[in-house]
Amino acid sequence: MIDIPAELAATQQLYNGDKGRQFIAGLPSLVADFLERWELRPDGSPMHGVTALVLPVLRRADGTPAVLKLQLLDEESAGEPVALRAWDGDGAVRLLDHDPDTHTMLLERLDPTRMLSTLPGTRDAVLVIAGLLAHLTAGPAPAGIRRLGDIAHAMLDETPGALRRIPDPQTRRTLADCAAAVREVADEPGDRLLHWDLHDENVLAAGRAPWLAIDPKPLAGDPGFELWPALHNRYDPDETLWRFDAMTDTLGLDRARARAWTLGRLLQNALWDIEDGRPIQERQLEIAHRLRTPGA
Ligand SMILES: Nc1ncnc2c1ncn2[C@@H]1O[C@H](COP(=O)(O)OP(=O)(O)O)[C@@H](O)[C@H]1O
Ligand SMILES: [Mg+2]
Repeated sequence: MIDIPAELAATQQLYNGDKGRQFIAGLPSLVADFLERWELRPDGSPMHGVTALVLPVLRRADGTPAVLKLQLLDEESAGEPVALRAWDGDGAVRLLDHDPDTHTMLLERLDPTRMLSTLPGTRDAVLVIAGLLAHLTAGPAPAGIRRLGDIAHAMLDETPGALRRIPDPQTRRTLADCAAAVREVADEPGDRLLHWDLHDENVLAAGRAPWLAIDPKPLAGDPGFELWPALHNRYDPDETLWRFDAMTDTLGLDRARARAWTLGRLLQNALWDIEDGRPIQERQLEIAHRLRTPGA
């Protein structure tokens, strides 16, 4: 029997309420089913992030190290196996098996002790992310992936009501500017396969490549919408423009469009904060200011 990490039970309860509790309660038997069905043997303690249980396993047939990933199916996680299959290991972890009924995945095992966040240099880490994005966003998104255009238009529809709930005029102005930038590009949202969540704890060291991405919440859209996590990782305000330039250079992106889509990520984060009744993080506003400085 496996021990379910208490933090995972707590975050599931917090974010998903009854559904989260049921997911946690069902995990031991779900794990047992898949160990049997896919002929696996446990090979270490379960790991977890905010949403998923990840159990190291070995394939009984040939001893291949892998991990079993179990998470609730929702609109963000639904595209994960579709994207991993499309990438076929190029820049991302390989999908070895997938059960659509329970959303359970068997993934190639990477090195969980070496996340990109352990790399000493923050600039080096940004270059790793840029290099991975060059592979991940090179191709068009397959069918069935959520579309950035829909998300952008939904954000623009929500913005006026959300802004009315912000008392501070300066914050309101910053977010209105973010929305104006998104409005300029919303009708040309792009069609590349995006990871969307490539922060430095979703990049692990590997054997067949130095670093590989895990845990996509994929979208079909413009790669400019991928840059915000690497601006936010190990935040250093004075490095914001260096990081933005390094990524747009590596990816060959038009800077004005990439800036607009990055302001779109800041708007997306702010709309979630407003919806949940949280203050908008100072850092989000600061990144927006840095990107909008003349000459930036
Ligand atoms: N393929 C893998 N190989 C080794 N460890 C993994 C793998 N995938 C995930 N993990 C571990 O499990 C943790 C949570 O996985 P992740 O896919 O990021 O889920 P979450 O959606 O909960 O963040 C990771 O931080 C990592 O430690
Ligand atoms: Mg993760």
